[in-house]
Amino acid sequence: MPTESNTPTIAITLNGQTVHAPAGSTILDAARRAGVDIPTICYHPNLTANAVCRLCTVEVVGSRTLQPACVVPARQDMIVNTETERVNAARRVILELLASTVDLHEAPEIQDYMVRFGVDAARFAGGEQREFPVMDDNPFYVRDYSQCVMCWRCIQVCAEDVQFTFALTWGGRGIDSHVATFFAEDMPDTSCVFCGNCVGVCPTGALKGKVEFDLEQER
Ligand code: SF4
Ligand code: FES
Repeated sequence: MPTESNTPTIAITLNGQTVHAPAGSTILDAARRAGVDIPTICYHPNLTANAVCRLCTVEVVGSRTLQPACVVPARQDMIVNTETERVNAARRVILELLASTVDLHEAPEIQDYMVRFGVDAARFAGGEQREFPVMDDNPFYVRDYSQCVMCWRCIQVCAEDVQFTFALTWGGRGIDSHVATFFAEDMPDTSCVFCGNCVGVCPTGALKGKVEFDLEQER
């Protein structure tokens, strides 16, 4: 069905309702157009979706596994359910695992999700924590990767999605994996231009302006 702007649209069944969206939309796009709230962490509207957090997982009828709504295209006649017990159970486990390893006290959106999905934050408590020293190595921002949920947004915004600076990369393995600079250099010794875009897209308190950080320390 063409729209006024001549963009073809598709129709899917979302939680039992027929929803129209421009062809090429993801399930998440289609849901948001219809006012259906699918939770996300790694997704950001201005960045390439990389589907690392899996919180946006939904059930697509006919698909054996749950699907990440932020990257899976909505197709004509697809039947999608976003709030089934299976979906919500998967989201609960993702959030419980995050809560067991990451300091989320400055991640209000994630805390809201924990309430919404009835998360037991202590379910996997007692294991290894992701603990890193606060990195205060420049006059503009501070990095505390103990609060990092590994969404990749900062790396993407620093790279070809926006800034083309490539100051950030990924380091470590397993529980020690973290955002890093190349050769673990201090930020002033990297290609960083201190644009602040990484701080702007971080969904937690892992990246923070230096002024804000210093004020908090004084308090
Ligand atoms: S520092 Fe922030 S933006 Fe970067 S990966 Fe961690 S949580 Fe995401
Ligand atoms: S928001 Fe879709 S995988 Fe993270």
